[in-house]
Amino acid sequence: MSKSSILVARAIFPEVLQTLSQVFEVESNQADEVWSAAELTRRMQGKQGALTTGSERIDAALLQANPQLKMVANMAVGFNNFDVPAMTAAGVLASNTPDVLTETTADFGFALLMATARRISESEHYLRAGHWTKWSYDMFAGAEVHGSKLGILGMGRIGQGIARRAAHGFGMEVMYHNRSRLSADLEAECKARYVSKEELLTTADHVMLVVPYSAASHHTIGAAELAMMQPTATLVNIARGGIVDDAALAKALAAGQIAAAGLDVFEGEPQVHPDLLKVPNVVLTPHIASATIKTRKAMAQLAADNLIAFFSNGQALTPLNSLPGAAA
Ligand code: DGY
Repeated sequence: MSKSSILVARAIFPEVLQTLSQVFEVESNQADEVWSAAELTRRMQGKQGALTTGSERIDAALLQANPQLKMVANMAVGFNNFDVPAMTAAGVLASNTPDVLTETTADFGFALLMATARRISESEHYLRAGHWTKWSYDMFAGAEVHGSKLGILGMGRIGQGIARRAAHGFGMEVMYHNRSRLSADLEAECKARYVSKEELLTTADHVMLVVPYSAASHHTIGAAELAMMQPTATLVNIARGGIVDDAALAKALAAGQIAAAGLDVFEGEPQVHPDLLKVPNVVLTPHIASATIKTRKAMAQLAADNLIAFFSNGQALTPLNSLPGAAA
């Protein structure tokens, strides 16, 4: 039987590429160019499957130009780069990589919270610039983390991982807001109390964003929400760019409306709003929350396994949609 053809749209671990090459005819992109939509559409010609990252948009136009496409596996848990309804309508299965990155991403969320509240980046830049000449009682004095109030917006698997770290490791009082409330058992395990978005924003010492991006969650945090937060509060976004209005955040940080922010994701990334680069009280990292070698390998392997499973038995391991007439 002839092999199906797939496109691996970005560079991935060579051993995962090797596994895929044993099963499929593979066109890869180990040079790791970020293709335009037109180039991606062109490269997709003749491919039945594809492995993408969050940088590749799979939308109605690409699907229309590639009626042969059967499945796209995203190497990410987030899938706002996929138009899933359009994929379903075109008979294309979509998959993502949940679970394998939960704890690693929760670790990073906590690291970014610590770095933000305790002014780690700002003080390191000061030291490297040769400004440190003496110890002073209030030098880079930041906000307390242990025992403080953490508000988590978005309480999926990663939010729950952060809650456990905060409550059990740091004795924090954890509040959360989510579209749906957790079961009583999960709330008890995470030691987390369900509150309104308003209560969370007005009373939390630290606000952590872990909400998936959609049209409905666009600018969940804008000027009005920032105005509700305490002037001593910190804001951490490890969710997606677009959840925060970055221009409004830069203004709030410059005006001291909130104390500090930690951002791993940005509107229009890899571009960063120029005003965010001008304010010192923000920690900026380039979308690395899931970036450990072990976790990134697990993500690549799961994306590959999804393709292999789908093309061998019609079922992906972690599908995002179901297709009419697909194998039960
Ligand atoms: C994810 O898995 O969604 C991470 O943000 C990496 O893209």
